[in-house]
Amino acid sequence: MKSELYDVSEKFVLRQRLRRLRNRESLRQLFRETRLSSSDFIYPIFVDHRLSEAEEIPSMPGIYRHPPSRLKNELDEVVRLQIPAVLLFGLPKRKDQLGSEAYAADGVVQQAVREVKKIAPQLAIATDVCLCQYTDHGHCGVIRDGKIANDESVELLSRIAVSHAEAGADIVGPSAMMDGQVAAIRRALDDRGFNETLIMSYSAKFASGFYGPFREAAESAPLWGDRRSYQMDSPNIREAMREIEIDAGEGADVVMVKPALSYLDVIREARTRFSLPLAAYNVSGEYSMIRAAGQKGWLDEERIVLEVLTAIKRAGADIIITYFAKDAAKLLRQSVE
Ligand code: PBG
Repeated sequence: MKSELYDVSEKFVLRQRLRRLRNRESLRQLFRETRLSSSDFIYPIFVDHRLSEAEEIPSMPGIYRHPPSRLKNELDEVVRLQIPAVLLFGLPKRKDQLGSEAYAADGVVQQAVREVKKIAPQLAIATDVCLCQYTDHGHCGVIRDGKIANDESVELLSRIAVSHAEAGADIVGPSAMMDGQVAAIRRALDDRGFNETLIMSYSAKFASGFYGPFREAAESAPLWGDRRSYQMDSPNIREAMREIEIDAGEGADVVMVKPALSYLDVIREARTRFSLPLAAYNVSGEYSMIRAAGQKGWLDEERIVLEVLTAIKRAGADIIITYFAKDAAKLLRQSVE
């Protein structure tokens, strides 16, 4: 039997030859639909109040915890690689019930913000607004009667955000998944004259196993229970859209989906439905599994880093928060040289 489509003996039967688009690198460049750039990235940095020199995080090879006064090398590299923003996470000197270092004027993040402003004033400084690294129980809110008390936690989160803005943060990122946190933070900032401080809300933050290495890095694993009563249930995409819609209504400037790789459908849906800038967080576990497989020689790490970040952008993210920011920026630079 003769196939119509593949009969090459008869001329001009095969008119659709998509391989024409892929024949040479110059053509592939021309027809590329998604372009990754170092200006898409936010680089997370951990600052630790107890350290006098940088320490590598065992479960995140290549990522360090830094003393707030020793950020110069890291920041110089970020600037040189044309990454426009950093996201600061803090580990306090001491943890307590109410996470008091989180909103202290001389807290570790507040110090780090002032350092970044001094060393690299051109960078946008984002901060993580949460309590889990600062509380002795490791939850993202205040505990009352064995439960995470939403409204009381929101008050503390607002204090944290204001203290970050006072230190000079450009963007505050509430990540505690408390209801009403964006509205309260917007109001607290505006009341104190910080109407130019942006809010990047971790709107659709799922309860995920992919935060494992971060919790080791930030020593923020909950002492009892888990985060499922406040972070989202991973099967829910419609609820994720409600979270984003509410945060947009409460005044978020940027919304986020987190993690990224197991939630690309959520990123795509959010991009389709909303016009706000959309961030995606390529989280610690997504970083560590690629690093580990790369170190073992099981995967070509460089290739996969760009493939994965491109996928996140193709799904619809405008901004990618990633521990690979510096590596990816270097790879992108090599590819144009
Ligand atoms: C704080 C916070 C977490 C992450 C970002 N902000 C940890 C958590 O919710 O357990 C995770 C980031 C990562 O895994 O890279 N609430």
